[in-house]
Amino acid sequence: MHWSLAFIAAGSAGIGATAGRRRLLLSQAKHRSLAGHSKWSRRIAGLIPSIDYDAHTFFRCDGAPEDVVARREQGFERLAAVFAERFAKGRALTAETRPGLSDLQFTGSYRVPFQFARQVKENLAVGAFAERSAGVVLTDLDGNDFFDLTGSYGVNLLGYDVYKSMIAEAVAQVSDLGPVLGQLHPVVADNVARLRALTGLDEVSFHMSGTEAVMQAVRLARYHTRRSKVVRFCGAYHGWWGDVQPGIGNPVPAERTFTLAEMSEKALRTLATRNDVACVLINPLQALHPNSAAPSDNTLVDGGRRAGVDREAYAEWLHKVAEVCRERGIVFILDDVFTGFRLARGGAAEYFGIQPDMVTFGKTLGGGLPNGVLIGRADLMKRFREDRPVDICFARGTFNAHPYVMASMNAFLRKLDEPDTAALYAGLDERWNARAARMNASLEAADIPVRVANLSSIWTVLYQVPSRFNWMLQYYLREEGLLLSWVGTGRLIFSLNYTDADFNEVVTRFTRACERMAANGWWWHAPDATNKGIRRGILRELIARRLGR
Ligand SMILES: Cc1ncc(COP(=O)(O)O)c(C=O)c1O
Repeated sequence: MHWSLAFIAAGSAGIGATAGRRRLLLSQAKHRSLAGHSKWSRRIAGLIPSIDYDAHTFFRCDGAPEDVVARREQGFERLAAVFAERFAKGRALTAETRPGLSDLQFTGSYRVPFQFARQVKENLAVGAFAERSAGVVLTDLDGNDFFDLTGSYGVNLLGYDVYKSMIAEAVAQVSDLGPVLGQLHPVVADNVARLRALTGLDEVSFHMSGTEAVMQAVRLARYHTRRSKVVRFCGAYHGWWGDVQPGIGNPVPAERTFTLAEMSEKALRTLATRNDVACVLINPLQALHPNSAAPSDNTLVDGGRRAGVDREAYAEWLHKVAEVCRERGIVFILDDVFTGFRLARGGAAEYFGIQPDMVTFGKTLGGGLPNGVLIGRADLMKRFREDRPVDICFARGTFNAHPYVMASMNAFLRKLDEPDTAALYAGLDERWNARAARMNASLEAADIPVRVANLSSIWTVLYQVPSRFNWMLQYYLREEGLLLSWVGTGRLIFSLNYTDADFNEVVTRFTRACERMAANGWWWHAPDATNKGIRRGILRELIARRLGR
């Protein structure tokens, strides 16, 4: 790709961008998918009617012949019987808790495409509770052991046992002070020093979640630039605060947020010509699937999921964005809440060789406790103006710098300096790329139409056949004792304490789950089936339902 900033800047200056031209550029810089058009995606979401397949249609929605349908039905019934027996206690407590816990109702309803959800909920219900963790294994209420592929939303980097001991250590360290807020425990000073050294940035602020850290970064960028617009890239998640989550999921329009296409010259040109953009947010996880939202099984309606990292091209893209930001006085915010400490000791900045103006961390940095951290240049972090004492940028939070969190964060930061941790980071990418290759080789040898793609220890599952049932794999994996989070096969997150033996066992079980799924006919597809054809068929069905036919 050839992005020449000099060309862009010179061209733009010569033309003398008018408001109309800027609007046109902006609209061209959006990704052409619906995810790039938040207003339209919200409007269309409001039009989509509910469709709920009955037991007959469920197995036949793709026109499979009756012998295939029979295999699917048998497989489904067998899984239903296994789950009912194996997860009895967990399912009972989940059913009892669900009416009072909104989160459970939401995740329970959005594990699979909505057309299939009722049959799946009724027959393949899973428990939401766990009792123990040890090594890379989680144990549920019924005593079943699972290899943990959830990674606790990315928090679990070093293995649960390490976090347990860091939390215990933290509790002991601050027990004399207890949960005193406002006055700082001395451990805060060491955290500030370590975070400054780690990032090469000047100042730190502590928050209670990644969402809050991002909110503060954006607020400060707006305060110092005196501009209001925020640029995020298509598909990137930055927490659930409204301004960074335009489109579906947010009940009000995020009017001051532009969602631009990633890896796009037009996006660079837009940044180079606007003078109302306060900041650009980057989520480095997008390197795995630029311009696509987090791949979740509830949107897995066909085999069209795509992913794969080109580290050099993504690094080049980030450099271009950083460069245009520098030229235009736009604050470059690296949102490293997910990828921080997972790609490299120094986070995504080290991994991609970039220097952000501000960086947000969270998740694993808390040593197992809730946190969000913002680190930035001194001129951007300042919350007041010397010459305008009343014009401040307010940000306080009751629980910021909570002693227990600060101490467990300190344990995590000290852990980074231990030789065992350094050994984990040595050859990290090579190790996880080799493991992904081993998984793919096993799937290929078994003639399974499934592959994995990875950004280091963050993986996603890809499907090679245009099937409407790829999401079923999550249930075969659970039967094999492989635990995924509610987004299913869209995201597997490994902790770095997986040994080769643990990993090989995962490969064996994963492959076996796929073989069972293949034997049960879920990957059958008509010879002329395509992903596009499937999507068209679904659209026709939705329109017919909407028109009441
Ligand atoms: C890149 C990124 N930013 C922000 C957040 C929000 O963090 P939290 O869930 O702690 O609010 C997340 C959460 O997944 C994230 O991945």
